[in-house]
Amino acid sequence: MNKGAAHDPDAWPTSDFSRVPYAVFTDADTYQLENERIFRGPVWNYLCHEVELPQVGSFVTNWIGDTQVVVTRSEDQGFHAFENSCAHRGAQLVTAVRGRAQSLTCPYHLWSYSLKGELTGVPLLKGLKGKGGMPASFQKSDHGLHVLKVQSHEGLIFGSFHDAPPDLKTFLGPHSLSQIDRLLVQRKPKVLGYLRQRIPGNWKLYNENVRDPYHGSLLHQFQVSFGLQQPTMQGGIKVDADLKNTWNHSILSAADKDNQALVAEAYEGTGKFNPDMKMADPALIHVPLDLGDGYKTTILSIFPTLVIAQVDNTYAIRHLRPKGPNEVELHITYLGFESDTPEQTHDKMLTANFIGPSGYISLEDGEALRLVQQGIRHRRPGGHEVLEMGGVGPVQDTDYLSQEISIRGFWHFYHHIMGLDGAPGQETTA
Ligand code: FES
Ligand SMILES: [Fe+2]
Repeated sequence: MNKGAAHDPDAWPTSDFSRVPYAVFTDADTYQLENERIFRGPVWNYLCHEVELPQVGSFVTNWIGDTQVVVTRSEDQGFHAFENSCAHRGAQLVTAVRGRAQSLTCPYHLWSYSLKGELTGVPLLKGLKGKGGMPASFQKSDHGLHVLKVQSHEGLIFGSFHDAPPDLKTFLGPHSLSQIDRLLVQRKPKVLGYLRQRIPGNWKLYNENVRDPYHGSLLHQFQVSFGLQQPTMQGGIKVDADLKNTWNHSILSAADKDNQALVAEAYEGTGKFNPDMKMADPALIHVPLDLGDGYKTTILSIFPTLVIAQVDNTYAIRHLRPKGPNEVELHITYLGFESDTPEQTHDKMLTANFIGPSGYISLEDGEALRLVQQGIRHRRPGGHEVLEMGGVGPVQDTDYLSQEISIRGFWHFYHHIMGLDGAPGQETTA
C-alpha cells in the first residue's frame, strides 16, 4: 500500500474529516478501489431522466465510474440498463450517444440482444450443412448482457451493480426527496440541451466544489460584482446523514436585500469589489425567479456523482464521469418545463449559457479544480487539505454559507463506503 494513500487508515488523522489526504486525488490504486467499492458498490448511480427515453426502443449511453452502460425503454415500458459490452467477445455494442432501436446488434459477429439485454440472435448458431455452430450445451439464456439493477424516482433513473443496494428512496434521503419534488416534479421537465466539460481534476474535487458555498462569492467575481451571489445572502446547508445508506446535501441561498455597504466591508482591502461597476446590458442579471419561493441557488449533491442544480431559473442535472484519477467529464443536461412560455425558455437559455463552461461560473470552477490538481500533483508526497471553515466537529445543518461542513460530510460517507473505517463486510486492503 502506498503510504499516505486514501486506503491507508493512517492518512486520515481526524475523525471529523477536517483533514483529507491529498493522495486521495491522485493515487491510481485509490481510483481502482473507488470503481470497485463505490461505483460497483452499494450506491445508486444516476443514469438519465425518463424524458430522454420517450418511446419503446429509446436508448442512451452513460458512464458509471469507468464502466459504460446503455439504458433503454423496453416494450413493456420498463427501464433497463446493462454494460455496453457484447457477451460474445466484449465489443462495444452501442456507439451512438442516444437513439432508438428495436434490438441491439453487435457489429462484430452480429449477436443481437433484446431491449432488456437478453441474447436473442446468434448467426450460424447451428452451423451450416451440419458442420460448425455452437455446441449443444450453448444456451442463449446464459449469455445475456451484464444487467444492472434499475430503480427510478420521479423521472430520475438510477442503476446499481450491487447485489443488495439500499432502497432508492432510502438512499436519496428525505431532504433530497423534497428537493427533487420542488425542482423536477411540480412541473413536467423537458430537455433544453446538453453541455460537456472536461476538467483536468479528480472527480472528488468537483464533489467538494458543489458542497462549498465558501468559494461562491470569492472565486466567482462576476456574481459578486452584479449581486447574483454575495456573502451577505441568507442561506445554509441541509444534510441527509445516515452513514449506513446515504449522505447527501443541499446548499441553499436566498435573495437578500440591497446590502452593498456590508459587501463592500467584507471585501475591504481586496480590491475585488467595486459597487459602481455596471453592466451595459443587464438583461442577464434581471431574469426573474420562476419558482416563487425566493431561493436563488439550490445545489443538491447526491453521492457519488449527481448534482441537481437550480441557479436563478436555470435547472440542470450535472453528472460526473470520472476519467482516471486526474480528469473528469462533467455532463450537464439543461432542463426546461412543458409549461414554460417562450420568454421563460429564452431566459433559461440565457442563464444556462452564463453558468455553463463558456460562461462565468463553470469555467471558473473547472479552472479552480485544474489548479488544485496541479498543485497537489507537484508537491511533496503526503499532506492534507484543511477543512475548518464554518467550524469543526459534527456535520450538521447550518444557517450560514461560509462553511466547508458539507464537504466534510462527503468525506465521512466516502471513508465509510471505501471500507476505511473497517465497517462489517468491507475489508481495508493491505
Ligand atoms: S464480439 Fe459481439 S458478436 Fe462477437
Ligand atoms: Fe463555483
